Amino acid sequence: TVLVVDFGAQYAQLIARRVRECHVFSEIVPSTMPAAEMRARNPKAIILSGGPASVYEAGAPVAPEGLFDLGVPTLGICYGHQVMAQALGGTVENSDIAEYGGATVVVEHPGTLFEGLPHEQAVWMSHRDYVSRAPDGFTVTARTDVTPVAAMEDRERGFYGVQFHPEVLHTEHGMEVLRRFLYEAAGCRPNWTMANIADEAVEQIRAQIGSGRALCGLSGGVDSAVAAALVQRAIGDRLTCVFVDHGLLRKGEAEQVEKDFVAATGVNLHVVDAQERFLAALDGVVDPEQKRKIIGREFIRVFEEAAREIVTGKPGEEPVRFLVQGTLYPDVVESGGGTGAANIKSHHNVGGLPEDLEFTLVEPLRTLFKDEVRALGEQLDLPAEIVWRHPFPGPGLAIRVIGAVTRERLDILREADAIAREELTKAGLDRDIWQFPVVLLADVRSVGVQGDGRTYGHPVVLRPVTSEDAMTADWARLPYDVLQKISTRITNEVREINRVTLDITSKPPGTIEWE
Ligand code: XMP
Repeated sequence: TVLVVDFGAQYAQLIARRVRECHVFSEIVPSTMPAAEMRARNPKAIILSGGPASVYEAGAPVAPEGLFDLGVPTLGICYGHQVMAQALGGTVENSDIAEYGGATVVVEHPGTLFEGLPHEQAVWMSHRDYVSRAPDGFTVTARTDVTPVAAMEDRERGFYGVQFHPEVLHTEHGMEVLRRFLYEAAGCRPNWTMANIADEAVEQIRAQIGSGRALCGLSGGVDSAVAAALVQRAIGDRLTCVFVDHGLLRKGEAEQVEKDFVAATGVNLHVVDAQERFLAALDGVVDPEQKRKIIGREFIRVFEEAAREIVTGKPGEEPVRFLVQGTLYPDVVESGGGTGAANIKSHHNVGGLPEDLEFTLVEPLRTLFKDEVRALGEQLDLPAEIVWRHPFPGPGLAIRVIGAVTRERLDILREADAIAREELTKAGLDRDIWQFPVVLLADVRSVGVQGDGRTYGHPVVLRPVTSEDAMTADWARLPYDVLQKISTRITNEVREINRVTLDITSKPPGTIEWE
């Protein structure tokens, strides 16, 4: 494993992902973790991430004591580079001139990290403090106009530092620099592959569940589907999946789970039709938070009932003690740094975990990022429609009908949504777009003209976004002809809609969903 020491903000997650793209497993650990604990994880390499602080500030995070005595090859990036320089006797200074954005580094000595790479390279910088003098024993390998020590290394001791960000795509040869650190400096092997991950996960699940039985709530999303497929591979028909059709799903969604997923995996599936129940509970409710609470509560009740039905299904069978959850690595990191018990945010609970049910959790995706889960789904031969499905919120279309939720409104939205998704797929853009909500402004009407008649219909909002992790997002610049086709088809084919609008707000300030 490679430990990525987190000095703050979101830098560490991106670095960890890039390391994994080099087929080397990486884990994020907090900068407060004692060096002895790091040593216990037996890391092949350590990477010190960037961070928002300045090394002079009181209380600024520092490297754990003894970190540089572990004898583990270490790479400092940005703030991590400065931390390394300061800890080993170099000098860090504050400059009047900041360096934000694109810059050019000039390689003075190729050293280990730049061997075979061009003399001048475009890099991404984001700093004001800088290393003005490298510690003794280090060679300065690159500089920029404003940064005298843009990269340094002490090959003998295995210490490497770069002021720029090799993990961002704007750094031309960033991946190459990272690869050279991992393979050449630290001797890592690129053996973290999806096939190995799947095999290991299956083995671990078998060890955990033994001869027991497990239950998995399927949401229709990729995470729960991949988690279920893995567990099914491990324990076969001792897994039962429960799918709650709350009537807030997109067109074809229930069928996809019932047919495609079962066809691909042969899993035991228990479908609950709870449409009436959810509609009744949501009757007249307009407030978004109230909608979410009601849906979460009803979901848990339905799920519990289903769990009981399964347990008492056949006489003399073992009780179900394990609950499979599609928890991902970002959730684990955000809820406390990758150690300790599962602490899943309520956001992710909807569609999943009834907390007071006494189950032991099985979370085979706990160490993976979303894109890795997709790759794993492909490795497990799940259908592309499932693997590449866009994320869909647990509360479903209920939080995309702005206003009270009725069956009629859901039907209207479901048709419009299906058209938008169909055209996106036809244009071959599914994988470029993170998510594409369509939102029905159910209490708004506007005047239109269709044929020779006046209409007084509802608007929908198209909300296509790009994102890496849903924490931040940008509105997607869909081609005009695709937007045009969607608009024409929706107004032609969905009678109640006479206006199509486009949401061009990034997140922040807007969230992805409207409610
Ligand atoms: P927002 O709207 O907060 O959404 O930008 C971020 C991501 O989370 C999804 N989302 C949810 N997912 N249960 C879920 O499982 C929820 O209650 C929920 N609310 C939002 C949203 O679709 C986006 O991907």
